[in-house]
Amino acid sequence: MEKGLLISFEGVDGSGKSTQLARLADRLRAVGTEPLLVREPGGTALGERIREILLDPATGDIDPAAEALLYAASRAELVATTIEPALADGRVVLVDRYVDSSLAYQGAGRELGIDRVLEANLLATRGRLPHLTVLVALDPAAARERLASTGADEDRIERAGDDFFTRAHGAYAELAERWPDRIANIDGAGSPDEVERLVDAAVQPHLTRAGIALEPLEAHA
Ligand code: TYD
Repeated sequence: MEKGLLISFEGVDGSGKSTQLARLADRLRAVGTEPLLVREPGGTALGERIREILLDPATGDIDPAAEALLYAASRAELVATTIEPALADGRVVLVDRYVDSSLAYQGAGRELGIDRVLEANLLATRGRLPHLTVLVALDPAAARERLASTGADEDRIERAGDDFFTRAHGAYAELAERWPDRIANIDGAGSPDEVERLVDAAVQPHLTRAGIALEPLEAHA
């Protein structure tokens, strides 16, 4: 039987997925399970350099296929050097964005086509898909409002415009229909505590199978 557990967190920028990932990581640590946390693009020396190119507004407009392949290159390095060894050690790996980000952002957002981007990503990951993907779904307008309230500068992707994010948001919903067993489509409109309860319900069966029992959420409130 395969060891290890790979859980990805997905959603449009501002959806709150990173907050939820951090909360789950805290709860795992509270019961003595140290998860491996990785972010995409990045997570390796090569990946961090690629991340700079991809997110720096100074990079400007690049060919969509080049963009998709840069994300895939960062992912390939991460899977080979970090994710696979951690899974082989039986660890829980939490990844902030993974293949579905490329399907939504480059496949739909940049209109390359989901299946073509999937093909490149199956090469990059050697077919490694997450055991569970937590999709924190939030209407792009609401997500944008949350982002604006943080006051952070927009990166190159965040500058892509409303149509881009509408396409990415729609694609995420399509992906959840395509992989209903893998992707938990969670309503991200509620408070962080409300969303955390939905995340909890999605992750529990997987953690139970991996022999990990989290404390009930109420105990942490
Ligand atoms: P980041 O600052 O990590 O954003 P977030 O906190 O929202 O994850 O920047 C990653 C950006 O790159 C984000 O706008 C989404 C985008 N992206 C893609 O377009 N394709 C991908 O495959 C990945 C992993 C990210």
